Amino acid sequence: MPMKTLVIYYSRTGATRGIAEDLARALDADIAEITSPRFHLGPFGYLRAGFDSVRGKLPPIDMPTLDFAAYDLVLVGAPIWTSYPALPVRSFFADAQSLGRETALFFTCEGHSPVQDAVDEVRRLWPHAVKDAIALNMKEQDEVARANALLDFTVRLGIEVPVCRD
Ligand SMILES: Cc1cc2nc3c(=O)[nH]c(=O)nc-3n(C[C@H](O)[C@H](O)[C@H](O)COP(=O)(O)O)c2cc1C
Repeated sequence: MPMKTLVIYYSRTGATRGIAEDLARALDADIAEITSPRFHLGPFGYLRAGFDSVRGKLPPIDMPTLDFAAYDLVLVGAPIWTSYPALPVRSFFADAQSLGRETALFFTCEGHSPVQDAVDEVRRLWPHAVKDAIALNMKEQDEVARANALLDFTVRLGIEVPVCRD
């Protein structure tokens, strides 16, 4: 039976959404978005994201009702904020039970913080195994470098990328 994968993500300005959509398309996965009205677009939303992130002030979030147990693999995506996963994804993990059979993380960033801090924060909030994590640098990696990094990530996760039929 083919592997059943879910991609769930938060994105404030669209970068993580783009990666989530690429991954879901490539893996023939279901996709779901976490939203939080607190961090709207514009400079005030940016400042609030930064201030709240440093304070660890977890916001209320919205997302569709999902049966995580139905998935072999759940990929959770977030931008990095002040070295940690964006707050809506920290809220998600603070409330989550175990997710699917395996869970892995993908982050987008601009390259000025190590991915390990973000992974450690997820592990602090959510005491379950994280199989792997990747951070894509949206500033310094071009599209080909990001695609190669994602391919490498999927190989490490043991995902067979479905053959394209079109
Ligand atoms: C409040 C805030 C804090 C950020 N902190 C970091 C950081 O510590 N390290 C980093 O590399 N990028 C940081 N960034 C940049 C974002 O991670 C990057 O722009 C990301 O790709 C945005 O994703 P999105 O378009 O899905 O919201 C920060 C962005 C915001 C809004």
